[in-house]
Amino acid sequence: MFMTDAPPHTELLDHAAYAEAVQIAVDANAAYYGDGESTLDDDAYDRLFRGIQAYENEHPDEVLPHSPAGKVAGGAVTGDVPHTVPMLSLDNVFSAEALTRWVAGLERRLGRPVAAFSVEPKLDGLAISARYHGGRLVQLVTRGNGTEGEDVSHGIGTVVGLPLTLAEPVTVEIRGEVLMTAEQFEAACAKRQAHDGTTFANPRSAAAGTLRAKDRPYVCELTFFGYSALPLPPGDDSELATRLRELPHSEIMELVAALGVATTGSTPVAGIVATTVEEIQRRIGELAAVRAELPFGIDGIVIKADSAADQAEAGFGSRVPRWAIAYKLPATEKITKLIGVEWNVGRTGIIAPRAELEEVELDGSKVRYATLHNAADITRRGLMLGDSVMVHKAGDVIPRVEAPVVHLRTGDEKPIPVPDVCPNCQGEIDKSQERWRCVRGRACKIITSILYAAGRDQLDIETLAESRIVQMIEAGLVADFADLFTLTHEQVLALDRMGETSTGKLLAAIEQAKARPLSRVFCALGVRGTGRAMSRRIARHFGTMDAILAADAEALQAVEGMASKKAALLVTELAELRPLIGKLVAAGVNMTEPGVTPPVPGQAGAADGEGADGEAADGAAVAAELPLSGKSVVVTGSMTGKLGELSRNEMNELIERAGGRSSSSVSARTSLLVAGEKAGSKRAKAESLGVEIITPDEFASLVAAFL
Ligand code: IVH
Repeated sequence: MFMTDAPPHTELLDHAAYAEAVQIAVDANAAYYGDGESTLDDDAYDRLFRGIQAYENEHPDEVLPHSPAGKVAGGAVTGDVPHTVPMLSLDNVFSAEALTRWVAGLERRLGRPVAAFSVEPKLDGLAISARYHGGRLVQLVTRGNGTEGEDVSHGIGTVVGLPLTLAEPVTVEIRGEVLMTAEQFEAACAKRQAHDGTTFANPRSAAAGTLRAKDRPYVCELTFFGYSALPLPPGDDSELATRLRELPHSEIMELVAALGVATTGSTPVAGIVATTVEEIQRRIGELAAVRAELPFGIDGIVIKADSAADQAEAGFGSRVPRWAIAYKLPATEKITKLIGVEWNVGRTGIIAPRAELEEVELDGSKVRYATLHNAADITRRGLMLGDSVMVHKAGDVIPRVEAPVVHLRTGDEKPIPVPDVCPNCQGEIDKSQERWRCVRGRACKIITSILYAAGRDQLDIETLAESRIVQMIEAGLVADFADLFTLTHEQVLALDRMGETSTGKLLAAIEQAKARPLSRVFCALGVRGTGRAMSRRIARHFGTMDAILAADAEALQAVEGMASKKAALLVTELAELRPLIGKLVAAGVNMTEPGVTPPVPGQAGAADGEGADGEAADGAAVAAELPLSGKSVVVTGSMTGKLGELSRNEMNELIERAGGRSSSSVSARTSLLVAGEKAGSKRAKAESLGVEIITPDEFASLVAAFL
């Protein structure tokens, strides 16, 4: 997660290259601070900017007057409201080593250790100053060129976190970041879509555009988090002003929150006070680990000398304070080229486009493909082959193409070809829904479907290879996986390269598969939108296939994590799968979940109450006795000892047999983390949240009775 070396900068070989770089940076800045839609991604801009800085250091006599280096906001935007005190930006470091050097440098300058550091998230939005007079919000000003900003007071009342009145009638200037949360971004995109058919490229540019737009016919909500408070006017000598000059930064933040203004103190990434570089590093690791799951973007961590005395003595450089630094996290968004679009047919016949990209590194991993949701989505965004596109990837999420960068078009872009027939079977495509589907549905991908059903985490039919499935299909023996259970000895023996022994083995494996628990049989059906974890929850909730089939969408929603959309899809899917399920029942395949008491017919909903944890159907009295009852358990790293052989799915099954709930991500609700070898970010996150962490061996003894 930590980058070891400072990232490379653009190499500028002569004055012409330097002048061109300056122009590109100036244009990108104007766009970034203007409508928020830059021609360069942050990473590319940083590289270019450092290249310009390096060239200027070596050729001080060649520095161009309009160069962005040495200016706040790259000198991009001016406004007409003078700032009370300049609004500065921050210097960056990109590695643990550089951070250590920065701390050492600061301590050398002070001639003593820094008393304490405040470590807080670097919010990915826009700086803004909010002026309160007598407790009333009277003016909002953007950062602008750092000395003068633009009046955006028309935004007053649309920014969550910036109350119209403070808890006390004080006069004060609060500075902080305006951004859009994921939810606000979605709402804003929907509004813009409805209005002019376009969307915003990302939350940051949506926030920038929204803040500066004076006369949009629709209003989009924004969010503010304060990160500093200043006396107003600067020379004020009220009690509050004096406190703001003397208190450490961390206490000023408490004061800001007490006045009713939002700070990150109320989020999972609250600022902390650290006294050593190790503590700072640990907090950086923790914030980086939770980054992907936050409801708003962070692009780094800001480290500030906490005490007023340390800040005053360290002072300011031309553009940045010497007492603070931004530790940049790897970019989660970059601009790259859309080279091609593949149309893949999934197990259930869904035909989905996938973007093939010029490789980029995002959040520490190399990305060559990204999802494009469906054909309608491609049209909506107006994507074209050869487009420069903004790609997003953070943590474990699947990379996605966000939007084309329209002003980087060269004219050589081509329309994206869309298929007329199913790319797998050349059959007709059902285009009545946004998600296209082969009219043959599952039958289109029969080999994949059978292979999936026979897989280790489903029916676990060990000796059934793909080539064998193909043979069986070609011989007309199977048309779906239920047909496997009615194969006769003679039929299998008659297949090419099958002898007595291999036939016996295969049929025995199939026979064993009949006894798998309902959770696995259900998973084998390959219901759209329902994987292993959801299949287990459904099976534990209902206990029998009959109960599942009897459930309507409302009853299905009582299963933990089952949203209404998914429940509705499940009802449709189950209707489609009924004949297949009937064949399985007729073949004698098990349709019950061991250890689960089926609900009394007609009382399924009632017995489960709100259905929040699905345990009522498991027999609450029994569940309370189990070692993991009421516990949410996450497994990470490689398992060893008695658990060494278990797949992650089998670990999850074990957790659930022992009464717990398995989950793949650590959150405040996690009760236990089983951390094996090479446990990484999940362990760091569990530590930061104070979640109990145990070894695979300790876990094995805890659930020994269920192994
Ligand atoms: S302190 C003089 N704290 O990052 C100190 N800035 O690259 C100025 N930012 O202009 C800023 N989160 O827009 C500070 N916790 C935080 C921040 C933060 C985001 C932004 C801010 C600033 C820019 C500098």
